[in-house]
Amino acid sequence: MEIKTFGVIGAGQMGNGIAQVAAASGLNVIMNDIKEEFVDKGLQAITKNLERSVAKEKISADEKDKILSRVKTSIDLKDMKSADFVVEAATENEPVKLKIFRDLDEICVPGVILSTNTSSIPIGRIAANTSRPELVIGMHFMNPVPVMKLVEVIRGIATSDETFKVTWELSKKFGKTPAEANDFPGFIANRILMPMINEAVFCVYQSVGKPEDIDTVMKLGMNHPMGPLALADLIGLDTCLAIMETLYDGFKDSKYRPCPLLRKYVEAGWLGRKSGRGFYSYES
Ligand code: CAA
Repeated sequence: MEIKTFGVIGAGQMGNGIAQVAAASGLNVIMNDIKEEFVDKGLQAITKNLERSVAKEKISADEKDKILSRVKTSIDLKDMKSADFVVEAATENEPVKLKIFRDLDEICVPGVILSTNTSSIPIGRIAANTSRPELVIGMHFMNPVPVMKLVEVIRGIATSDETFKVTWELSKKFGKTPAEANDFPGFIANRILMPMINEAVFCVYQSVGKPEDIDTVMKLGMNHPMGPLALADLIGLDTCLAIMETLYDGFKDSKYRPCPLLRKYVEAGWLGRKSGRGFYSYES
């Protein structure tokens, strides 16, 4: 099936980034969320990003307008009826995601691939909530989506080779480099990244170093583009905690236990950039 219309569920940080790269690759995009204000905010983020690219002379004003004209917003999941491929990038909450997949399975045309940007929920569990498990796959983008080159493509136990191939090629069409992973907790990216972030939080917790110093060590000592605590603030501390819980629950190995300080911050509503405070303050 030729993919012309690409559906994105969720207009947040990840969803609007995915919508932007899909529209920039020439696809018509339907960006869906549950409230008008959420899709408006997502569209504003895309507009701002594209305006920055125009100011940097990376794209012309005309190209910006064309990309934007390809993004339609929606607050009714039934609009996914006209999608030829769907990626779900809603909140990282399992009951919410499972409900979306049950609904999408009813709404979308038979044969349409239903992918998920989940960072840690098992693909097999999501697929089991649909009547088309062979068409369910993980398509895991990195934040910030327009900049990061990777898409982790995750095969569930029932994912067909054809579904894998289509998703792999679509990732390349978006200008990304795909990497293949199997369906184990955290896949590849978060299995490796999150324990590092969690360990950095332990270093704060045990007063081994201040956040600035921990981040300086990793930036200048290991050439990471940003330190693990600044990165945790970018990803969202609630997301980091949810992923650590998934690793801990999935493997029952104490090496994945979330740092108590991470939990404390999340309980206090210190979620990182999105709430104005995490390991750093973003209030200004
Ligand atoms: N949206 C779009 N573009 C952005 C952006 C955003 N939020 N933030 C930065 N950019 C762009 C800038 O416009 C700039 O573009 P040009 O090259 O065209 O000028 C470019 O990115 C570099 O930005 P800056 O010069 O401002 O800053 P930088 O060099 O420090 O780069 C960064 C910023 C790209 C975020 C870089 O610090 C980086 O790569 N950090 C690591 C990010 C990372 O590890 N992401 C993965 C997180 S894990 C994940 O997402 C998976 C999960 O499941 C949790």
